[in-house]
Amino acid sequence: MIDKKSYVGQLISLKIPTIEFSEAFAPSNIALCKYWGKRNLDLNIPSTPSLSISLGNRGTKVQLSIAPQNSLSINGKCIAQESPVFKRTFDFIELLVPKNIKLSVQSENNIPTAAGLASSASFFAALTISLDKLCSWKVSLQTLSCLARLGSGSACRSLHHGFVKWLSCDDPFQSYGIPMDVQWEELRIGLLIFDDKEKLMPSRQAMLHTQNTSSLYQSWCENSNSDFEIFHNAIEKKNFQALGETAEYNALSLHAVMLSARPAIIYSQPETLKAIIKIHVLRQNGIQVYFTQDAGPNLKLIFLENDLECILEDFPRMEVINPFSRVDNLST
Ligand code: DP6
Repeated sequence: MIDKKSYVGQLISLKIPTIEFSEAFAPSNIALCKYWGKRNLDLNIPSTPSLSISLGNRGTKVQLSIAPQNSLSINGKCIAQESPVFKRTFDFIELLVPKNIKLSVQSENNIPTAAGLASSASFFAALTISLDKLCSWKVSLQTLSCLARLGSGSACRSLHHGFVKWLSCDDPFQSYGIPMDVQWEELRIGLLIFDDKEKLMPSRQAMLHTQNTSSLYQSWCENSNSDFEIFHNAIEKKNFQALGETAEYNALSLHAVMLSARPAIIYSQPETLKAIIKIHVLRQNGIQVYFTQDAGPNLKLIFLENDLECILEDFPRMEVINPFSRVDNLST
């Protein structure tokens, strides 16, 4: 299998930046069909196909400037050189720019970082687009998506708005986010934040641990493959019930496979389960609301605009996002 450096070498040629400053935005994305496991750890090639919805104008803006030394700030806070985030950011940058170039990286999120949303995906996507502007690679979004994937797998889906799929295949040059040509104006995502502390285990580590230790991992992969097909049809036909039911089923299967890891990974908290029960009661009362949950205790609700008022009665603190609100093009 090709190594990271040669892979990058086949996608772009390293260039000295042509300008002093660049900036770019990329949306956060929520996976409806989750990516959880890799067939290639080095190149972040997923074991299963995944499908996400980008969050419109909610995500991360990254500004880059040529500087005497490397530095990183996130939401105005300077990140120490020794921190894993700093190392991961500059390991990625060093793959893409000549070694003697030093950069100041400033990242701003307009979504609660605590929700576990504005983390690696939108950051690495915005960073990749910004590097493309700085170095004038002038490559396609497909190539940028392959590059962003090296920073964080889910980042390859944040190169696009709307619904985005990411197929699972052996060829690393075919592993990128593909936008679906579907606008679903009435669709809403609600953020329910119960805990704003840092995760007990980062998703990268938890994913690997699950893959290596859970005896249910193989069935997770089989289920994901069939969920992906159901999602695809549900989105094309705008079948909201099929979309919602499969999102919930896929998220609960994800947490089930994590519970079956050794030792188990438990992200849910009592508030998570209380909210899940409330959602089920709402549904019994005819309100079409579903949830998904990632590697943390917080929930993302999925519903249609006309049910918003009713849902807010039960979840008054929920933050509502319209993924198809007017958004600018992400192309370079
Ligand atoms: C639960 O993309 O953060 O959000 O590729 O190791 O950086 P790495 O993992 P990452 O994992 C995201 C996991 C998830 C599901 C998803 O976004 O599909």
